[in-house]
Amino acid sequence: MAKLTVEDLDLAGKKVLMRVDFNVPIKDGVVGDDNRIVAALPTIKYVLDHDGKAILFSHLGRIKKEDDKPGLSMRPVAERLSNLLNKPVTFVPVTEGPQLEDAIAKMENGQVLVVQNTRYEDVKDGEYVKRESGNDPELGKYWASLGDLFINDAFGTAHRKHASNVGIATNMPGKAAAGFLMEKEIKFLGDAVTNPVRPFVAILGGAKVSDKIGVINNLLDKADKVIVGGGMTYTFYAAKGIKIGNSLVEEDKIDVAKEIIEKAGDKLVLPVDNVVANKFANDAETKVVEGDIDDGWMALDIGPKSIQEFKNVLADAKTVVWNGPMGVFEMSNFAKGTLEVGQFLGTLEGATTIVGGGDSTAAAKQLGISDKLTHISTGGGASLAYLEGDVLPGIAAISDK
Ligand code: 3PG
Repeated sequence: MAKLTVEDLDLAGKKVLMRVDFNVPIKDGVVGDDNRIVAALPTIKYVLDHDGKAILFSHLGRIKKEDDKPGLSMRPVAERLSNLLNKPVTFVPVTEGPQLEDAIAKMENGQVLVVQNTRYEDVKDGEYVKRESGNDPELGKYWASLGDLFINDAFGTAHRKHASNVGIATNMPGKAAAGFLMEKEIKFLGDAVTNPVRPFVAILGGAKVSDKIGVINNLLDKADKVIVGGGMTYTFYAAKGIKIGNSLVEEDKIDVAKEIIEKAGDKLVLPVDNVVANKFANDAETKVVEGDIDDGWMALDIGPKSIQEFKNVLADAKTVVWNGPMGVFEMSNFAKGTLEVGQFLGTLEGATTIVGGGDSTAAAKQLGISDKLTHISTGGGASLAYLEGDVLPGIAAISDK
């Protein structure tokens, strides 16, 4: 890749500032899904194995007032990291000042330090000042001054222009490199949209067309087929004049859906049948219907003919990007479409199968199919922005080779 990477850096004895995305779920002071921490381990270990001093920065949640701070401390994350690395990790409960500077000064080669949640900087003395999320130039400069080199491994945050990613990188010209996770995400998602091995099929699902318009439009230009499933299907149905009963619809997006249908021609593949329910509940009465959906019924999953049709389209694909579930997979009676399509991806010979983060990552995990797929992105909003073809500020700020 054209960006400097961690392997281009001389790390020995250096204070290596690392931006990771440890924005993980925390409940009662304990980390839930630690996938994002695990995903950053290769870069952290590489720095430690090469005698660097790893100083980790991440945000956690969103901080808008003082009261948000205690529940969003990085301490539990630092503890989980320590367990995963099987070595001590120093946690510094502040984001600036002598306590942080002294702790860094005391570090030895091969040691790890976790800085407090970078978004603590968003609230100062009770004021919502957004120093971190507004990329305050002084803050980026200050953080950059704490180290010798910068590694950005936070793909999940790459769509944000914040002090802890863009701010630090721009204050370390020539010394800001991508970590292994960042490199991997750029390779898989980037290659898929710029240089896919064909046939290239995109599967897009999820509730709202409004969240996916940019992705659908970009991928219609790039992919050979775009399969649409999930809740947003019924806005497309409405655009085609198919009755949708009580299914989810975004009335104000029907015109956009019409435009997409027109532009797409036979590239767009919509479900031909659906599992409909008489209420939004797992114990609802259900039936499979083709075409029109009667009032009093709502579509909550794709039907068996659609599953078969989608498999036919996917059968000879060599690159697949999947973003968004095919139905309400969280309810077992409406998980079949997502499960079968996901499982089928796992059987494709010689295909690169990429899950584009967010709900589809959760679905792949919950359905136990993650290890059958080539790449599961750690990004939610970042993956979507990348698939839309946007330039991500976090990536743009990394030094070129
Ligand atoms: C994410 O979880 O998508 C990233 O960590 C970014 O978080 P944010 O949407 O709060 O900026």
